[in-house]
Amino acid sequence: MRSLTGLLLATGFVLARGQDTFEPTDFNITDALLSHGINVSSLPELAPLAERSSLAGCSIACGSLKLLFNSQVISQNTAAYSNFTGSYWSQQQQAPDPYCIFKPTKPEQVSVQVLISRLTQCPFAIKSGGHAAFAGASSIDGGITVSLENFNQITPSSDKKSAVIGPGNRWLQVYSTLQKSDIVVIGGRVASIGVGGLTLGGGISFFSNLYGWACDNVNNYQLVTASGIILNVNQQSYPDLYWALRGGGNNFGVVTAFTVNTIPLPGGLMWGGSRVSLNASNNFPALIKAFVNLGSTGATKDPNAAQILSFTYYQGLPLASAALEYAKPVANPPIFNEYLAVPAISDTTQIRTLANLTNEFAVSNPDDLRETYWVATYKLTNDMTTFVKDVFYNEIPSIANAAGLVPAATLQVITVPQLEAMQKNGGNPLGLSPSSGPLLLLNMNVQWLNQADDKRILEFNNRIIARTVAYAQQHGLAEDYLYMNYASQFQDVIASYGEVNKERLEDVSKKYDPTGVFQDLVPGYFKLDGPPSSQVP
Ligand SMILES: Cc1cc2nc3c(=O)[nH]c(=O)nc-3n(C[C@H](O)[C@H](O)[C@H](O)COP(=O)(O)OP(=O)(O)OC[C@H]3O[C@@H](n4cnc5c(N)ncnc54)[C@H](O)[C@@H]3O)c2cc1C
Ligand SMILES: *[C@@H]1O[C@H](CO)[C@@H](O)[C@H](O)[C@H]1NC(C)=O
Ligand SMILES: *[C@@H]1O[C@H](CO)[C@@H](O)[C@H](O)[C@H]1NC(C)=O
Ligand SMILES: *[C@@H]1O[C@H](CO)[C@@H](O)[C@H](O)[C@H]1NC(C)=O
Ligand SMILES: *[C@@H]1O[C@H](CO)[C@@H](O)[C@H](O)[C@H]1NC(C)=O
Ligand SMILES: *[C@@H]1O[C@H](CO)[C@@H](O)[C@H](O)[C@H]1NC(C)=O
Repeated sequence: MRSLTGLLLATGFVLARGQDTFEPTDFNITDALLSHGINVSSLPELAPLAERSSLAGCSIACGSLKLLFNSQVISQNTAAYSNFTGSYWSQQQQAPDPYCIFKPTKPEQVSVQVLISRLTQCPFAIKSGGHAAFAGASSIDGGITVSLENFNQITPSSDKKSAVIGPGNRWLQVYSTLQKSDIVVIGGRVASIGVGGLTLGGGISFFSNLYGWACDNVNNYQLVTASGIILNVNQQSYPDLYWALRGGGNNFGVVTAFTVNTIPLPGGLMWGGSRVSLNASNNFPALIKAFVNLGSTGATKDPNAAQILSFTYYQGLPLASAALEYAKPVANPPIFNEYLAVPAISDTTQIRTLANLTNEFAVSNPDDLRETYWVATYKLTNDMTTFVKDVFYNEIPSIANAAGLVPAATLQVITVPQLEAMQKNGGNPLGLSPSSGPLLLLNMNVQWLNQADDKRILEFNNRIIARTVAYAQQHGLAEDYLYMNYASQFQDVIASYGEVNKERLEDVSKKYDPTGVFQDLVPGYFKLDGPPSSQVP
């Protein structure tokens, strides 16, 4: 469909809608490269492509990048290559073998790569922290993996009200650096997660009840578009594109810097940790009650409080883990009284820095294992939450003997204050409104060891999502929204934003990327017309 549009454009059958189009129909990639100082005639393999649009591949693209950028391009069968492919969080993402890896240091170099990929039709993937779980999300077989690791600036403004953060950072670096200026930004809760993926898909933080999600605290995106143009995208400059980037993932370009709001947090100090409880006496129902109360009335009463409640299963034992946080260095704040009344077999809550807390949470999310993430959203009620917990434990026997199994039904609330913050500065495309909240957000996540167990573990997750969504539909508790950052490769995230928002995103894409470069040449993640895999297990 889209390549047909591309063909029609190339042959001049479709007229651009004049000023509505960002890139002219007669856009000349060779000329665009020249404007970046690259003369295609001086790159032997590219030269013939500039004249005839012959089929050509990633060998030419990678060879040309190598000539231009030398050691910033890593080829197969080198130590640096296996080091890089082995650096992803999940085993599944470590598996694809790109033709080459490119590590740009400047936005202009990303422009050149995007244009060379277009000229050669060589597909590419964009990698920030590499924590998306499924194969191909930020890696690619046979194409170019563009690693943003060198975009690692962390620069507070002189008034400390905002900071420029590069997508090559992990949140630990961001928090450790900003702590010295007594500020933080809205970002991830685990040390090694990347700035890029988390912020472009949404981004739930410990401070989201106070300030909203990460995507709603970005003031400016430095973006390399499909035409290789470097834009500063904000609400004033390109309001439609700014809106689209607040949850639109990698569909609109490569973000090379985020300018984000900062918030004061003296010394980076706060309170938090996790409390693990057994399924003894009334513990699980009491935790669910505490969770629902905090997520509904509690969130407005004291928005400093944050929570994640996970039901898990460890070596035959059902366990609940409540991660509790407070945005001030106050021990055991009364807002958590209901939680604190539930007996815990371990409790790490303490006054500590944000960086220290994200390091603790990293321990339970080690690298190099098989991983899957799935998502669903429902209206928040005690019954719905209890049903999700029960279905999770009811389905466990089908996978209980998988080696290295750590399954979890991780529950959060998309609170009304979070939904309100989504409306500021023109809103975002997620399709959520304050009147629809509070919402229960389920992230099913499973860790295991052997590929042989993949099939039954994916089916396990699929059944839990299907059963709980069916229950929500029967009880008037359904909510379509799928959170991109927790979605599996089978879930249609963009469709879940609603028809109107999806169409608006498509219009933005057609305007800034009329030939669909970020739809067709960046295939691995949630595209506007569907998820990366249609083979639902
Ligand atoms: C252990 C763990 C903890 C987590 N904790 C949180 C949390 O606290 N809050 C939360 O909201 N989510 C959380 N998540 C989910 C997390 O937000 C997603 O996994 C997210 O995709 C990770 O981003 P990344 O940059 O590390 O991943 P990557 O795999 O590098 O990127 C993910 C996607 O974003 C695209 N992308 C990344 N950077 C750019 C860019 N600069 N320009 C264009 N496209 C880009 C990539 O192409 C890819 O498709 C967690 C995940 C894990 C595994
Ligand atoms: C692009 O421009 C170059 C030089 O300016 C020209 O030689 C080439 O034919 C043009 N390509 C297309 C596809 O129009
Ligand atoms: C590009 O390189 C070719 C061959 O080296 C040269 O003839 C041509 O003048 C150059 N074009 C530009 C615009 O510099
Ligand atoms: C492998 O990666 C690590 C960190 O990512 C780096 O310190 C090391 O130098 C790399 N080794 C090679 C051979 O590139
Ligand atoms: C938890 O305990 C209750 C009460 O003993 C029991 O009915 C329930 O099945 C237990 N849940 C799990 C998951 O074992
Ligand atoms: C966090 O700080 C505590 C106490 O200050 C210290 O004991 C612990 O080792 C730190 N943990 C991490 C993960 O850095």
